[in-house]
Amino acid sequence: MTSEPRAAVIGWPVEHSRSPLIHGHWLKTLNLAGSYERRAVAPDAAESFFRSFAESGLIGGNVTIPHKETAFSCCDEVDETARALGAVNTLVLENGRLLGSNTDGLGFLNSLDHSAPNWDKSGEKDGKSAVVLGAGGAARAIIWALLARGLTVHLFNRTRARADALADHFGSGVHVHGPEEMAAMLEGASLLVNTTSASMGGNPALDIDLSPLPGNAVVTDIVYSPLMTPLLLLARARGLVSVDGLGMLLHQAVPGFELWFKRRPQVTRELRRLVLADMGLAQDPSTDPIAAREDTREVGQ
Ligand code: ATR
Repeated sequence: MTSEPRAAVIGWPVEHSRSPLIHGHWLKTLNLAGSYERRAVAPDAAESFFRSFAESGLIGGNVTIPHKETAFSCCDEVDETARALGAVNTLVLENGRLLGSNTDGLGFLNSLDHSAPNWDKSGEKDGKSAVVLGAGGAARAIIWALLARGLTVHLFNRTRARADALADHFGSGVHVHGPEEMAAMLEGASLLVNTTSASMGGNPALDIDLSPLPGNAVVTDIVYSPLMTPLLLLARARGLVSVDGLGMLLHQAVPGFELWFKRRPQVTRELRRLVLADMGLAQDPSTDPIAAREDTREVGQ
């Protein structure tokens, strides 16, 4: 008798992870046998956990903070994206071998494609560029994704040395600037992305003037709590298309679910509403045209 596939989110802490809600919803609506749980693994136990993953009872899982790099180093095999990022967020066990991939960048792209179609087609055919704020682990996945789409990246970070290190890692498509160059870089950008944790949990907004951005530029934030970050509110006030960070969370989950449970799930408005309700948001506060579009389409990827 084969047992039901079990997957989990593995991190420290994991109580606040919304992955069980997302995957649980898909298991239920697709009427599949299986489960998705939380596994809190302390930092000093992480390496041995991943090295003996076959004994965990899990078929795979998502890896979250702070274990993405440790998981990467413990996999028997990793895909090209994980290798480029040095971090793994999705695991699957196949014939006793632990395979790792990274779906963060793809989730980011799929969310933008879904909520702001043609976001990368506007402006000049050659020379499309994005301004990226922040140089942490999240920025790494976003920059990888933007380079994969052929954009040039202009990178700003409070601590310049971290931005320089990231630019060195990725090579010629990434340019680091000081704050005095922000306006000039925004002027030519088709996308502005905040990857910093500056405005998480109600912290003060990043002090940034969006007026130089072209009128057809898209503004996005990978922070989804609050959903409408100060940056997105500024963008909306300027009449720019804004995309919140919840889409990235939902879209990055799709490939893992398909690996473990053998069905490709959909990112639907119902799922979005479910997660928003879990965040205490009874109504979708993204009342701009993008959210309205999200409400009328049921798009997978
Ligand atoms: P993650 O892996 O989630 O990206 P991280 O590695 O801690 O997290 O990176 C957080 C990012 O947010 C960094 O770019 C950080 O800037 P520093 O490199 O200067 O620390 C940025 N950040 C956090 N708080 C910020 C603030 N108040 N103002 C500007 N940038 C901030």
